[in-house]
Amino acid sequence: MGVLHKALFSLFALILVSQAGFAQKATAIPVEQVLALAEKQYTGYFSQYPDSTKYPRSSKEDGTILLTSSRNWTSGFFAGNLWYMARLTNKESWRRRAAAWTETLEAEKNTTSTHDLGFIINNSFGQGYALTQNPKYKEVVLQASATLGRRFNPTVGAIRSWDFAPFTYPVIVDNLMNLEMLLSAAKLGGDTTLARIAKTHANTDLKYRFRKDHSTFHVLDFDPATGKLRKQMTHQGIADNSCWARGQAWAIYGYTMLYRFTGNKQYLTAAQNAADYFIKQTNRIPDHIPYWDFNDPAIPNSPRDASAAAVAASGLLELSKYAKSPKKYYGSATAMLSSLCTPQYLAAAGTNNFFLLKHSTGNKPSKSEIDVPLVYADYYFLEALWRHKNYTTLALQ
Ligand code: GLY
Repeated sequence: MGVLHKALFSLFALILVSQAGFAQKATAIPVEQVLALAEKQYTGYFSQYPDSTKYPRSSKEDGTILLTSSRNWTSGFFAGNLWYMARLTNKESWRRRAAAWTETLEAEKNTTSTHDLGFIINNSFGQGYALTQNPKYKEVVLQASATLGRRFNPTVGAIRSWDFAPFTYPVIVDNLMNLEMLLSAAKLGGDTTLARIAKTHANTDLKYRFRKDHSTFHVLDFDPATGKLRKQMTHQGIADNSCWARGQAWAIYGYTMLYRFTGNKQYLTAAQNAADYFIKQTNRIPDHIPYWDFNDPAIPNSPRDASAAAVAASGLLELSKYAKSPKKYYGSATAMLSSLCTPQYLAAAGTNNFFLLKHSTGNKPSKSEIDVPLVYADYYFLEALWRHKNYTTLALQ
């Protein structure tokens, strides 16, 4: 072997070793400490709110807990949290609780008035099926997916998100998350049309979602008769041309998940571009936890959104498994997770209405859920902890 070849060989070997080793050397995340807290919080919750037909969502303005019915878009997350507790602790008691808060959601499999069936059913029944292979859970996922497919308009090439004014045919970035259930259903033996719907929706989204700098518009509004884009706008961000932080996090997670199912490199590129924008913004913030909208002129005197950090952290951990340069994505995920595990964001036992994370923002323009706990922040936080703990062997469905 010549000198040049030897040098190249050593360089290649060095790259391989450092790529494999970066995850071990990275910041330690106190997963067991968070689990001990979660055990206390959820045990406290069950003793005060044993009714499994009520689902914790957030805190109200008066400080009391906000519980919802199964129809609410957030209803499936609590069951999902309990399924992650079951995975993380391997304790049967969590499986039993998770099953109880899952099975009461079943009627929603026929609800046609929401695009959020993925959040409701996939994070409860879908997670439950992944862990237990209970065939009944699979049936519910297949039925809910068929129901969600009915909101697809082939002229637009997308599933309709909301049914309320001022929108004509809105397709929101959050909707990418609901495609996971359709892709899973097709993989589990459901109608293959469901996968076609998901991919068509993603391709339509990809055409119009991103600005040149790879920040996202929240809402794409279409004319359902012609399929033409009417407007790119916001609903939960500060302005039509701003970047709502959770929306950007949905895009990272959504396009990474789409790549997992399809192997389509365009989705991987979209996920990386969305992630690069998010990381550039959060690198300017000492603790890396985003403000609710990256363009709020009131920053730094503006509320944070821990839920956006949790969604992004979970998505970035998965993205780092597929990206050619994984370190940046893994590093950003662990930077956010480290901050979320400090007392600034993590609740003390018995406080925060039994939620885990503080300081999330639901819908600031509507003056709703500002600087509060949110059940979905906890869901993606637990998922990120699970992905972090199992990082070296991580294989996602
Ligand atoms: N899907 C609603 C939200 O992200 O707030």
